[in-house]
Amino acid sequence: MLFIVLIGLFCECCALSNYYESYTGNKITEEEYKQHVKRNTSFWCTVEVLPCDPREGRRIDGSCNNLKYFTIGSNRTPTYRMLPASYSEGFEPRLSKRGETMPLARAVRTNILLEGHVPDRQFTQMLTHFLVFIVGDFVSVQDTINYVLWTPYCCTEKGKSDYMCTPNSVPNDDPVHRFSNVRCLNMTRPGSYQRNGCAPNNTVPERTISGTPSFDLSNIYGNSMASLNEKGRLFEKGLLKYEIEDGKMWPPSIKGPNLCYANQPPRETRCHDTPERGSNAIVGANIITIWIWRYHNAIATALANINPCWNDERLFFTTREIVIAAIIQIFYYELLPLMMGRDNLIRDGVISPDLGFRDIYDSNYAPQISLEYPFAWRWTHTIQEGNIKMYDNKGYHLKDMKLVNMTLRTAYVVENIDGITQGAIRQPMAKFDKAVDFDMAEVVLGPHQYASDVFTSDLAKNRYFFLAPYIKYREYCFGERIRSFDDLVHMFDPDSIELLKESYKDVEDIDLIAGMWLEKYIPGGTVPGTFYCIIAQQQLRSVVSDRHWYERPNRPNAFTLDQLLEIRKSSMAGLLCAVGDSITEVQPHAFVRAGPGNEMRDCTQIKQLNMLAWRDKSCRVNQWGK
Ligand SMILES: *[C@@H]1O[C@H](CO)[C@@H](O)[C@H](O)[C@H]1NC(C)=O
Ligand SMILES: *[C@@H]1O[C@H](CO)[C@@H](O)[C@H](O)[C@H]1NC(C)=O
Ligand SMILES: *[C@@H]1O[C@H](CO)[C@@H](O)[C@H](O)[C@H]1NC(C)=O
Ligand SMILES: *[C@@H]1O[C@H](CO)[C@@H](O)[C@H](O)[C@H]1NC(C)=O
Repeated sequence: MLFIVLIGLFCECCALSNYYESYTGNKITEEEYKQHVKRNTSFWCTVEVLPCDPREGRRIDGSCNNLKYFTIGSNRTPTYRMLPASYSEGFEPRLSKRGETMPLARAVRTNILLEGHVPDRQFTQMLTHFLVFIVGDFVSVQDTINYVLWTPYCCTEKGKSDYMCTPNSVPNDDPVHRFSNVRCLNMTRPGSYQRNGCAPNNTVPERTISGTPSFDLSNIYGNSMASLNEKGRLFEKGLLKYEIEDGKMWPPSIKGPNLCYANQPPRETRCHDTPERGSNAIVGANIITIWIWRYHNAIATALANINPCWNDERLFFTTREIVIAAIIQIFYYELLPLMMGRDNLIRDGVISPDLGFRDIYDSNYAPQISLEYPFAWRWTHTIQEGNIKMYDNKGYHLKDMKLVNMTLRTAYVVENIDGITQGAIRQPMAKFDKAVDFDMAEVVLGPHQYASDVFTSDLAKNRYFFLAPYIKYREYCFGERIRSFDDLVHMFDPDSIELLKESYKDVEDIDLIAGMWLEKYIPGGTVPGTFYCIIAQQQLRSVVSDRHWYERPNRPNAFTLDQLLEIRKSSMAGLLCAVGDSITEVQPHAFVRAGPGNEMRDCTQIKQLNMLAWRDKSCRVNQWGK
């Protein structure tokens, strides 16, 4: 034992390794790192963290956020679980209370969610577009890529012997597929540290996620300095690389093979080459990436104009701070209150009731997300509208296109971006209710899969993530002990309870997501109570555990009060007026449909950040001193 400790000390002082195990955070030697490279496990199992400097700003790779647990927060480091894993022998999904396999995911889904089209009276498509973008900051798409590209054979003979294949059976009496010969939907098991050889196989599989867990726009700036430098920075005047086409600014395009599989060449060729390629995926993420890309360059240019003595480095990283803060401000203070209820969020400490600084940082919390957090966002698949309506800037309807047909089709999105943008502020989102969009329920991946059902996948993933039963979350969140279906009366409509009884034999069997699909909404909000609990807990933790949180007065590169007050003016409408395509007027609350109290107005009447708050007086002194 002493020997091992001594060796540990020895390595600590002399081997100049900056490598750590991503799973445990333990330091490893150069030699151990080389072993990982040899076994091809270095990508998932190790992280390289250069020594932390407490005065340094937010790192691109997320490391050194917490100076004690400095690997945590880096990309590819583990999540935490709100509740312990619930599984059966051999790390397979849990069995029902009676020891039987759980009811088929597709059968439960078709039994409890209706397919249909119900427009929301209050919210616009912009709300789901923005959410899709935000979620892209902390998730990874490798599980979807896995069954679409790398392991596409799960529904064939070959899939039966592949441990990673976990396809979903379609029952013979399926309401849709009784008319087709589809009896199997492709799906793979979540990637895990165990599977990737980073942790012993006799421990509970822990999901691997490639994004950084903080709200740091890693979906814009990338997860590593290397990818930012290669694909992002122009290294001039603080700008991101860009192209001008048709008089507008775009992220750089890839020449040659790319991820935009749904582009229809020869006409459609454009595909964006940003540090994180998720930007080409779903239309919402795609358009918001384009706007934030331009916004970065607009802010950098404004800063360069008022501070001529700043170099590229300073302009770039100050701009990044401002852009991250502006987008989080929109997310926390404009979007979340609409869904979750402003009073609820203030009561629970998630948002601040006033405009000044707020500092609730606690270094005892590592900057992590819960496994449940990105999972719970899947509930919002139920509010995704599948039909994208396009309008001109006078509000005349031009044409429609299916959302699923725009996935991985950046050229089409770019060509139609004026109409899509005007549509996003006019078209209603799908209603918060039990009806789900046809395309989300039967197509999802467009040309990439013949048939797919995002809700069936969500339910199946619920089980492969080993999430505890719904009633355990209810107990965790609200302190309620639920012993029978009768105990559910105050949280579900009577007809929903009937549906749950038809699908599950015991109340304990109910899957978390199935409970959220049918649960009543939180008072003051438009989301299910358990969804609220999981999301609010994480939003708060993200503030508490992030040393670089923008509202803090004491942090490296902190904003001054004047600067923070400018950040507080950020709004979706302001972003659109600054960089949105063909936007010259917009309603001030762009996530809410225009109407009395929220009338469209000219962009000159929508607040923008006053960049003079960032004026560096020393620049002028230097100029005059020359
Ligand atoms: C090595 O690992 C990476 C990342 O997991 C994977 O994409 C690649 O295919 C692997 N290469 C080999 C030779 O197995
Ligand atoms: C766990 O099992 C998988 C698949 O058999 C293997 O690739 C991986 O290396 C194993 N992990 C460890 C730590 O041995
Ligand atoms: C959408 O894509 C599907 C193929 O996945 C195609 O059959 C359909 O015609 C497309 N719809 C439109 C409106 O282009
Ligand atoms: C499953 O994937 C295979 C291979 O990509 C594909 O041929 C098949 O159509 C997919 N199944 C469905 C139901 O889409």
